[in-house]
Order: sequence, then C-alpha cells, then structure tokens
Amino acid sequence: MYKIAVIPGDGTGPEVINEGLKVLKAISGKFNFEYETKIYDWGAKRYLKSGEVMPEGAIDELKKFNAIYLGAIGHPKVKPGILERGILLKLRFDLEQYINLRPVKLYPGVWTPLKDKTPEDIDFIVVRENNEGLYKGMGEFQRKGTKDEVAIQISYNTRGGIERCIRYAFELTRKRNKKKKLTLCGKTNVLTYAWDLWQRAFNDVAKEYPDIKTDYAHVDAVCMWMVKNPDWFDVIVTDNMFGDIITDLAAMIQGGMGVAAGGNINPEGVSMFEPIGGSAPKYTGKNVINPLAAICALGMLLSNIGEEKAADALEKSVMKVTTKLKSLSAGKMGYSTQEVGDLLVENL
Ligand code: IPM
Ligand code: MN
Repeated sequence: MYKIAVIPGDGTGPEVINEGLKVLKAISGKFNFEYETKIYDWGAKRYLKSGEVMPEGAIDELKKFNAIYLGAIGHPKVKPGILERGILLKLRFDLEQYINLRPVKLYPGVWTPLKDKTPEDIDFIVVRENNEGLYKGMGEFQRKGTKDEVAIQISYNTRGGIERCIRYAFELTRKRNKKKKLTLCGKTNVLTYAWDLWQRAFNDVAKEYPDIKTDYAHVDAVCMWMVKNPDWFDVIVTDNMFGDIITDLAAMIQGGMGVAAGGNINPEGVSMFEPIGGSAPKYTGKNVINPLAAICALGMLLSNIGEEKAADALEKSVMKVTTKLKSLSAGKMGYSTQEVGDLLVENL
C-alpha cells in the first residue's frame, strides 16, 4: 500500500493534479497496486487566510509517505518569494531532495520551435543540484537604502553536495544506456571557485565510471548547443541556478510547459514530483490547461516508487495522446483539461 501526499497548490495546480489522480486510479487497477492519498491545502489560499505557509511538523509528517505529488505554488496576491521559499524550496531543502531531475523528450506529433528536429534529436535529461548554490539564500545587504548600497548573494557549494549529485548523474547515465555521455555544464572560465570545485569533483568521480564518456561545456555554450544540436546531449549535470535556467529553455524545445515534468529526488528518502510550469493564474478554473506535464510527473513518481511497468505504460499512453492534440498550449489543445485526462486513460 503506497502512501502518497498530494499538494495541489495554487492556480491551475488543483486542475492538473485532478487529472493525474484520475490516471493514478486507472493505472493502479490495471497494474494491481494499492495506494492511499492524503491531500494538503498548502498554498496561497491558506496563507492569505491564516498567515501561515505550512503548519509545524509538516516536514516530519511528509517523511512518512512514499512520495509527494505537487501541483504548483504561487499566486499574484502573494509577494514573490514567500510561497516559493516557504513551501517549494523548504520541502526541497528539508527533505534533502538533492537532485532535481528533468527529462527532456520531444514526443511524437509535438511541435518544436527547432526547425527540422525530430524526437530522435531531442531526448536528454538534466540533473540539477537542488539543495545548494545560489539557492542557499546566503548573502547580505550593506548600507541598505543608501546610494552606496551593496547586495551580496553567495553561491554555496560543498564537496559532499556536489559529489553526491555528480555520482547520481553518472549512475543515471549508465542506467539509461543511451549515448553513455555525461556533460558537466558550468562556468569554469569566470566563476573560478565554485566551478573549480565542481570540475575537480567531476574528474575524480569520472574515474569510477570508465564506461561513461565525459564532456564539459560552459553554461552559455550549453544554451547554444541545445538549440543548434540538442542530439549531442544524453545527460547534463549542473548546479542549482544554471539548472533552473537551462531547463526552461529545454522545456521549450520539447514543446513547452504543457509537457515538462520534474522530480525532486532524495535517493535515500521521500521524493516529490511536479509539473514545472507554475500556477498559470490566468488560466485558473477554465479547464484549458494541459495536464500532461502533471501526468508525466506522475509517471516519474511511479517509476520512483518501483512501479516501472505502470510508468512505462503511462509514457506510451502520453505518446499516443500527443499525436492527437492540436497543440500542447493551454486553450489550443482541441480538448479540455479533463478530456486530455480521459484520453490518457482510454489509451492506457
Ligand atoms: C523551478 C521553479 C522554482 C525554482 C521557483 C518557483 C522557486 O522555477 O522549479 O524551476 O526556481 O527552482
Ligand atoms: Mn525554474
């Protein structure tokens, strides 16, 4: 019996999570596993009413689940940073989900802005460090409010934090068994402390994986290659900030936020899965948002808890549904949010 914590969150989060839960119900019947869900109302509504982002003891409670399924966090009425730091980043940090895993795959029938690129060219995965770097929140203001003000934002990188992330990426590259190539994405030519440590840790760990080809590219060049030659990539490993940026670019070449999913992984603990697109306030309640990203996130969740066959079937069904949609964009799919969920279930 799997225990799954569900945080639908804000905006269109609840709508896409509903479709994900519909798919979960169908797939559990087909693959004979049992689960129970517990829904948590964390997000803007709760915060605006009570002033509290998450209740005390929330983290300990979540540790008892097999996985967490998250919709989206963020609301126009709440100052940027409060819910992001108070919920999303707090969960990533306090549950030590030190990997942010983002598969980038162009599914059949999906439009990509890259001319002449096909599903064969776009199939890679980004391993983003998820607990450190600039996201650590270290820094200070000096002489705040004066014309001589200084703001310092520190990128915090530990050898241990880097090494566990890099090792995860090597293992994943081996397990994927595709090009068997791991690219380190950094900025060794300018950020000479952080990326010196990353590069040394990468070179050291690489010695344990002689079967994996290694490569290095500066983050700006990665952006260029991702557009020009996405087929060069198999697995990319990078830090928190660069990973945040390049995965939005990557989401666009795979057809947009409608299909982009991510996992916040603690390989030794509880992991959390989410569509990466945000709460999309302007589409809230309209039944037009694409639930495929949330459904793909569910696929990652299933694979994480060990239901590989169900995860495979889910992905195959997604690949059928993408050929039927007119577009992946909200309001242009030719189907409503709920109809896309139904299509997915029919094709399972
Ligand atoms: C993401 C998001 C978050 C991040 C925000 C909402 C804090 O953009 O998951 O990539 O920057 O990590
Ligand atoms: Mn982001």
